[in-house]
Amino acid sequence: MERLQKVIAESGYCSRRKAEELISSGKVSVNGSIVSELGTKVSGDDIILVENNPIKKEDKVYYLLNKPRGVVSTVDDEFDRKKITDLIDTDKRIYPVGRLDYDTTGIIILTNDGELANILMHPSKSVEKTYVAKLNKVITPKDQMILKSGVKIDDVKCIPTRVKVKNVDTKKDTCLVEITIVEGRNHIVKRVFESLGYLVDKLTRTEYAFLRLDNLKSGEYRELTTKEVKKLYEYKR
Ligand code: URA
Repeated sequence: MERLQKVIAESGYCSRRKAEELISSGKVSVNGSIVSELGTKVSGDDIILVENNPIKKEDKVYYLLNKPRGVVSTVDDEFDRKKITDLIDTDKRIYPVGRLDYDTTGIIILTNDGELANILMHPSKSVEKTYVAKLNKVITPKDQMILKSGVKIDDVKCIPTRVKVKNVDTKKDTCLVEITIVEGRNHIVKRVFESLGYLVDKLTRTEYAFLRLDNLKSGEYRELTTKEVKKLYEYKR
């Protein structure tokens, strides 16, 4: 059994908030009777009409995008900037699983499957995410050690699963550091390096769980395979 407004929103008919408005204003019926109470629960067998339109369970879609720079990964943006969902050709109401900053590039999943999105974003599931950060100076061996043992951000330690210095350019005084973390706090990678005195000039996410960018170019996307979706659902356990 699920809440009526959730079922309506997941069908793609409208947002959850709009569904609540429609329910409260008596525009929704379940099995022929108007239901105006928001907490009402329905099952898959119930016949739901919204403004006389039947609500069908929407097919789930899953995309893997190589996010370019200069795109927000929220569904709404107060500054009307280009949105990540504008890059995908679908009539479904999809949203990104987690966020990448406006200037961060790389791998991100978009879906209309709220259950999977919640599983993957839940801190207890420890989904690994790998980033490559270009720093504004070469990282010292001492800071590499500190980074590996974890740094406190807002009193909570972020301990990377892996840290690897991939490239050091002593002439330009820059380096590339590959870092794998399981957490999803906002701007976490930039904040980790900033706490050690480095600025992240470029950031790209190269891996999400077992998924990699492979040959997806910037702005390109592909659908996840059924096997990949099943494997992502294994995080539910
Ligand atoms: N950490 C960041 O700092 N930015 C991102 O976009 C993702 C992780």
